[in-house]
Amino acid sequence: MSTPSRILNKALQGKIMSAEQAANLIPSGVNVGMSGFTGSGYPKSVPKALAKRISEANSAGQKFRISVWTGASTAPELDGALAEADGVEMRLPYQSDPICRKRINAGQMEYLDIHLSHVAQFVWFGFLGKLDIALVEVAGILEDGRLIPSSSIGNNKTWLDQADKIILEVNSKQSSRLEGMHDIYYGTALPPHRLPIPLVHPDDRIGEQYFHCDPDKIIAIVETDAPDRNSPFSPPDENSNLIAGHILEFFEHEVKKGRLPKNLLPLQSGVGNIANAVMAGLNNGPFDNLTAYTEVLQDGMLDMLRSGKLSMASATAFSLSDAGLEEFTKNIEFYRDKIVLRPQEISNHPEIIRRLGVLAMNGIIEADIYGNVNSTHVMGSAIMNGIGGSGDFARNAYISIFMTPSQAKNGKISSIVPMASHVDHTEHDVQVLVTEQGLADLRGLSPNQRSKVIIENCAHPNFKDALLDYHKRAYEQSYGKHTPHLLEEALSWHQRFLTDGQM
Ligand code: COA
Repeated sequence: MSTPSRILNKALQGKIMSAEQAANLIPSGVNVGMSGFTGSGYPKSVPKALAKRISEANSAGQKFRISVWTGASTAPELDGALAEADGVEMRLPYQSDPICRKRINAGQMEYLDIHLSHVAQFVWFGFLGKLDIALVEVAGILEDGRLIPSSSIGNNKTWLDQADKIILEVNSKQSSRLEGMHDIYYGTALPPHRLPIPLVHPDDRIGEQYFHCDPDKIIAIVETDAPDRNSPFSPPDENSNLIAGHILEFFEHEVKKGRLPKNLLPLQSGVGNIANAVMAGLNNGPFDNLTAYTEVLQDGMLDMLRSGKLSMASATAFSLSDAGLEEFTKNIEFYRDKIVLRPQEISNHPEIIRRLGVLAMNGIIEADIYGNVNSTHVMGSAIMNGIGGSGDFARNAYISIFMTPSQAKNGKISSIVPMASHVDHTEHDVQVLVTEQGLADLRGLSPNQRSKVIIENCAHPNFKDALLDYHKRAYEQSYGKHTPHLLEEALSWHQRFLTDGQM
């Protein structure tokens, strides 16, 4: 027996076609807003069909490229396939695909790395040009034409509202029980008509469960049955456990001082293994009845919901491993009322992050001895992923924490350097820095005071003396003594990486 169609609207059933037919409706030169956020809820089949078409056109000497806007990173079937075909003119706002990264760093693809909370409003303001086509995965279409969102929300509301034409992928692999977990806020307006967003607790529901969509704009519907890209998490290594331990100790200290309530404040946790390890630490830690107001929901938070340590989580997307997805799907009734998925302009909204007093925890590439943080560039020039939501949270958090192992590339380079080779988060937005060596609480400290705490608490012993020596000489010889630097020498720290040929 075939599974019942998830397209309940009779008129829209007439627009069902193959991925190849839908891809043929996308011409060269257009801006396409695609769904997808950290490997979930991205369109699974039209981008692949489009990549094939682009590849054929490019081989025949007809230059075929589109601009790809998303929520955040997607998957090999989207970013990888289109980049491989050399089909992307401009990519925004965050990616983590190895082929994309290679093309961007080779100067073959333009990449606009902007704060995730900015993307939707940049489109409404017209700053990014016209959005021609929305290509969005949904979990189903209701009889009245409203859309059931998928496993990520990202910028989908904006794409559907702003695009001239819409292509939908209806993915029956997504659990039908996702219905009702979303909260789509339609109350945003442009300045000078903006009003406060009425969200005062992380679990507040302020919007609707479905996307509105003008049926006349829909030019194609493609049915799919494919899983999200679920990435495995490695079990926490020793460094991640040490970092998690320092953060827990810091939170306990803040509670004792009366600067944090016993159940802390809403947690934001960045992407990757260290972030996941911190969640594991919190799951075994002394704090109960925690909440999360975050961007992505990884396995670690699922475990905390399961154990009861976390009472609820608000995010814009799932980013689960296969095991995490299996657990979520099996026990979806348990999770349903504990998780809210929102558009990324709401999950990452400065107004709400500031109001709720979020505790932000994000990974970095390097930090300098004064607390400036580089989250995105190796050697100041080669992009790794992008700033993602780290800037949205860091600037507006109650406490902004950045974490990294103290060394990278098997100990060849120090993650604590004299001068960051690229700055995503300035010294003004970095309140706590943590490595496996220890934690530097930078609140209330001047640059020279900060440098002592950062070197002492966070630098690896292999690099500590060299950093102390640098700061001492910089203090003696620098043009100014407020943030002392020996400019030429400062950046030569990165040069040793290049001479090792490790890039
Ligand atoms: N110098 C050179 N390379 C470095 C480095 C340094 N100081 N620190 C890390 N790297 C390299 C690693 O070697 C690794 O490269 P590889 O994949 O070739 O081995 C890569 O950067 C990733 O580092 P890893 O140690 O695996 O850390 P991670 O998975 O925790 O990622 C970031 C760290 C910074 C890349 C990641 O946190 C990120 O993209 N952050 C920005 C976006 C963000 O904060 N999002 C969350 C907001 S909600």
